[in-house]
Amino acid sequence: MRVLSGIQPTGRFHWGNYFGAIRQYIDLQHEDAAFYFIANLHALTTVRDPEVLRQYTLDAAIDLLALGLDPDHAVLFVQSDVPEVSELTWLLLTGTPMGLLERCHAYKDKKARGLSADAGLFNYPVLMAADILAYDSDTVPVGADQLQHIEVCRDLAVSFNHHYGEVFRLPKAKILDASAKVPGTDGEKMSKSYNNTLELFEDPKPQRKKIMRITTDSRPMEEPKPPESDHLFQLFSLVAPDDACEEMAATYRRGGFGYGEVKKAVADAAEAYFAEARARREEWAAAPDRVAEVLGDGASRARKVAGEVLRRASDACGVSVRSK
Ligand code: ADP
Ligand code: TRP
Repeated sequence: MRVLSGIQPTGRFHWGNYFGAIRQYIDLQHEDAAFYFIANLHALTTVRDPEVLRQYTLDAAIDLLALGLDPDHAVLFVQSDVPEVSELTWLLLTGTPMGLLERCHAYKDKKARGLSADAGLFNYPVLMAADILAYDSDTVPVGADQLQHIEVCRDLAVSFNHHYGEVFRLPKAKILDASAKVPGTDGEKMSKSYNNTLELFEDPKPQRKKIMRITTDSRPMEEPKPPESDHLFQLFSLVAPDDACEEMAATYRRGGFGYGEVKKAVADAAEAYFAEARARREEWAAAPDRVAEVLGDGASRARKVAGEVLRRASDACGVSVRSK
């Protein structure tokens, strides 16, 4: 069984990315043969500054390694290092109905907001389908927002197989734990687009300042408060040990505390929780040759699989003249 997923390097990773996706990818690397890639071609649909894209891509690799992605267990690579995927995208595009892509939300939402979308965004789900099909993937762990894209991928694979014969393996989505929705500093879902993120590897001092500025309600200190519905408590429970969470929950139910102390506890717990990853990040960041080696090795392992699948697909649709 092959697990595959991609994550876009569109900014520095935040707690939402980690608890909602990356941590779960890392857990899965021990269960199955896992392929994880940094989707820099997808990121081109939003990041248009070459230096920024290069830096985010490298940072994403270093962050993933620091967070525990183990190159001995998982194949880690950069999307654009496997050119077979782009070629496969074309083979799939030729059989893709326009209407299918017109219904896809990334493009539809942008149009609905009156913005002009480019052909890259329109074809985004086909590149994603090629990403998945190129590696004979069985399971694709993604957030619920990506389910539509996996369905497009399955539709394209079924119709290609129907027309040309059995070429592609049909993947299944594995929807990541939805309860892991991480609130941002304003209490809404944490997201780059809302400017409410806590980055994973921000310097502790500015991060502490951000945490101290998290919005809270204006209930009086003495009032007991249900912990579960409070975003500050939710953030605390992500990074604090179980016994500390129980104690904090009891404090909430008793009342008589200030949010300032909770914020301080969140900052302390976060520092401890990410300390090891932070130290590992420093080691990886100081060894760019090792990072390049991991990505190079990942790319060649990925290309081996993608090359075979592309050959199968090219043969099936008649574009490989010499091999026949
Ligand atoms: P952003 O919203 O900051 O642009 P992305 O859309 O790039 O984040 O998310 C990448 C991955 O991280 C996705 O799988 C998504 O489901 C997960 N993710 C992002 N934000 C959150 C969050 N607040 N809670 C849980 N998961 C999240
Ligand atoms: N579109 C995905 C996202 O924004 C990233 C992605 C690109 C991906 N290709 C993929 C995820 C293939 C899973 C499989 O989160």
